[in-house]
Amino acid sequence: MSKIMDWIDARLPVTKMVEDHLTRYYAPKNFNILYFFGSLALLVLVNQILTGIWLTMSFEPSATGAFASVEYIMRDVEYGWIIRYLHSTGASAFFIVIYLHMLRGLLYGSYQKPRELVWILGMFIYLALMAEAFMGYLLPWGQMSYWGAQVIISLFGAIPVIGEDLTQWIRGDYLVSGITLNRFFALHVIALPIVILGLVVLHILALHEVGSNNPDGIEIKKHKDEQGRPLDGIPFHPYYTVKDLVGVAVFLFVFCAVVFFFPEGGGYFLERPNFEPANAFKTPEHIAPVWYFTPFYAILRAVPDKLMGVMAMGGAIAMLFVLPWLDRSPVKSMRYKGWLSRIALIAFCISFITLGVLGVLAPTPERTWVSRVCAVVYFAYFLLMPLYTSIEKTKAVPDRVTGS
Ligand code: HEM
Repeated sequence: MSKIMDWIDARLPVTKMVEDHLTRYYAPKNFNILYFFGSLALLVLVNQILTGIWLTMSFEPSATGAFASVEYIMRDVEYGWIIRYLHSTGASAFFIVIYLHMLRGLLYGSYQKPRELVWILGMFIYLALMAEAFMGYLLPWGQMSYWGAQVIISLFGAIPVIGEDLTQWIRGDYLVSGITLNRFFALHVIALPIVILGLVVLHILALHEVGSNNPDGIEIKKHKDEQGRPLDGIPFHPYYTVKDLVGVAVFLFVFCAVVFFFPEGGGYFLERPNFEPANAFKTPEHIAPVWYFTPFYAILRAVPDKLMGVMAMGGAIAMLFVLPWLDRSPVKSMRYKGWLSRIALIAFCISFITLGVLGVLAPTPERTWVSRVCAVVYFAYFLLMPLYTSIEKTKAVPDRVTGS
């Protein structure tokens, strides 16, 4: 075995890579449960790719055959139902895991120097993931697939001068049709998964270059022993590979409970109108995107003008990209930040969740006003950050990590 390994290592440094990224990658020893979500995101990504490959074997990407082929997968293909439910539940699980992964970043200032690029790459993953989910949702060719795509693609029509041509170019037709379905299929099964996988590799490489942050927001590289190992670090393998397995076990309990007992997720994971085939002549009573898009959809609807609404929605995502340069705090973790930062983050989370709920519901004048208030809070969290993070009083950060 060792001779074979030596032969391979002389040509491809596998052992060195395993050491650099696992057995000699020193991670802070005070990780808490919020640090489970990176490995869980990897797990869900693998689930989506594997179940996606098997779904593709029986799915027919055409306007006449797509809906029926999904029914065929559900009823006739052996274990087709579980493959589909693993994939559809996996989509929602992905966003739950990613939102918690991002929340951890906000809590512990993981986007701050020197991890700006880790965050930016994460944001590109988030964008690619949104595109991936949006295109995947058209494929079953149900009523909500069709009309959801219709509404979102038509948003590009708000762009001055090129808007109309652009929407036609995206659809490949004058309305959402089999041509749109075909190109979305190609992008969903090949192009975007490659982009996401590539970005995830870069995300982890960038993280391992600078080293992980931790709940105290302390750089563990500052204190090293004679061999150059961080005093507050432990090798990722076996310590965190084993610890992450606990997270995986808990996650799988919850995930399987949904897959087996509530695969429709109360109409949020699989929306009711999508059990009816797409019909270009019948608009559903109320069109709403899937829950993970609704915070941004609510911001769009909160603005009366279509172009301004699209800009507000784009701006809401752009804010997250520039976050590393908005935070002026001398400390990273919320544990040592002041009350202003804490109140701001709580207000941000409440407004994001409220926007998400409002985006699912049909609009009324009162709801639109609540959306407006929440949208203002959302933007204020970012735009006022340079101010409140520089004026507030922070606590003294300990020299070494705590609680371990
Ligand atoms: C497919 C999606 C993603 C995967 C598979 C993934 C994977 C990972 C993994 C394995 C880690 C190291 C373990 C951990 O700290 O939890 C990590 C860290 C990190 N990720 Fe992601 N990630 C994804 C998306 C994102 C997104 C969307 C963002 C934010 C925009 C993000 C921001 C970060 C940051 C800031 C860290 C460093 C955290 C720290 O050291 O405190 N990631 N990611």
